Amino acid sequence: MKRRAPVVRRSPSVTSQLGLSERIFSTAADRGLANNIDRGIAEIETSLIGELVYANEIANATTRYLFNAGGKRVRPMLALLTSHLGEGGIPDVITAASAIELTHLASLYHDDVMDDSDKRRGVPSAQSVWGNSVAILTGDLLFARASQLMARLGERAIRLQAATFERLVLGQFRETVGVRPGEDPVEHYIGVLADKTGSLIAAAAQAGVVFSNAPAEYEQPVVTFGEKIGVAFQLIDDVLDLSPQPEATGKVPGTDLRAGVATLPLLRLRERASTNGADTDLLARLERDVMASNGVATEAADSAITALREHPVTSETLAEAHSWARDAVAALSPLPTGPVKKALTRFAETIVERSS
Ligand code: IPE
Ligand code: IPE
Ligand code: MG
Ligand code: MG
Repeated sequence: MKRRAPVVRRSPSVTSQLGLSERIFSTAADRGLANNIDRGIAEIETSLIGELVYANEIANATTRYLFNAGGKRVRPMLALLTSHLGEGGIPDVITAASAIELTHLASLYHDDVMDDSDKRRGVPSAQSVWGNSVAILTGDLLFARASQLMARLGERAIRLQAATFERLVLGQFRETVGVRPGEDPVEHYIGVLADKTGSLIAAAAQAGVVFSNAPAEYEQPVVTFGEKIGVAFQLIDDVLDLSPQPEATGKVPGTDLRAGVATLPLLRLRERASTNGADTDLLARLERDVMASNGVATEAADSAITALREHPVTSETLAEAHSWARDAVAALSPLPTGPVKKALTRFAETIVERSS
């Protein structure tokens, strides 16, 4: 008999959060897939809990801190979904998906330092609890552990991990150094999103195919899907950054803008500002009261963020996110018709409908 790892339940189930428990998933095959994914997610949770063990007791606490705070587990879920194009959530898929989630977790520690974010997953960010050095070192520890996990799967896995990590970091790097003279700001921005977020989501989708021994011809479609869904995901993040409901997003409204990150609504406002006086005025308020505020919360900043949220550039950003999600789904056309393709399509829709 096949030995299964002890399972840890997450509630509500990840598949239901991602739209896979709805009535359209009512056939036996669909239900079977959703059950397998829930079981796989539980195995990944158990694997991660087992990995987050360090000889140093403070490192133990800091590495588990954001893991325990929550998270949607989007990347493991995607790896498990595409693994059903092959042999499903077999042990190598569980290992690869765990390594990818650890890479994501690590990137959050570093990202919150760079973005000067106060909150993550509904709790104070790691650097606001322990300071920058401990937060950076915790991210490094997790990156190292992710590489160790991938190394168990051989050279192909470690190359995928290294290439993905490099691209993710280059995305963060390009965001940090900003647009170069002569470069189109929106094009630069979309490139940054594809690199910093699309790369890891695409790697999750690819890992599901590769480590479940699925046909190699499915790799490219799911990579393109992951990459485009990653851009859609980040554009939704730009809209959520302006959300008036911090309890839903787990973040302070306008966190990115307050850290000086020009999100798509702001870039689109800049495009309009050259021809419209009211837009020029709002742009000036955002640049002065929010982006140059050093993160200090003021009434002027809150009111400028509210005005941006209600401006058409924000609904245009939402529409752009939906368009990226549609393109992601179109990339799946070479996949066989069946529960996996249906679930990936629903997954794409759920990503752009998300509110956290
Ligand atoms: C947040 O990712 C960081 C980005 C790359 C946008 P998620 O929204 O997947 O974060 P968690 O894991 O659910 O907290
Ligand atoms: C996070 O991007 C990207 C990575 C962690 C690689 P953001 O800075 O835009 O995401 P949030 O808003 O902090 O989650
Ligand atoms: Mg951030
Ligand atoms: Mg960031």
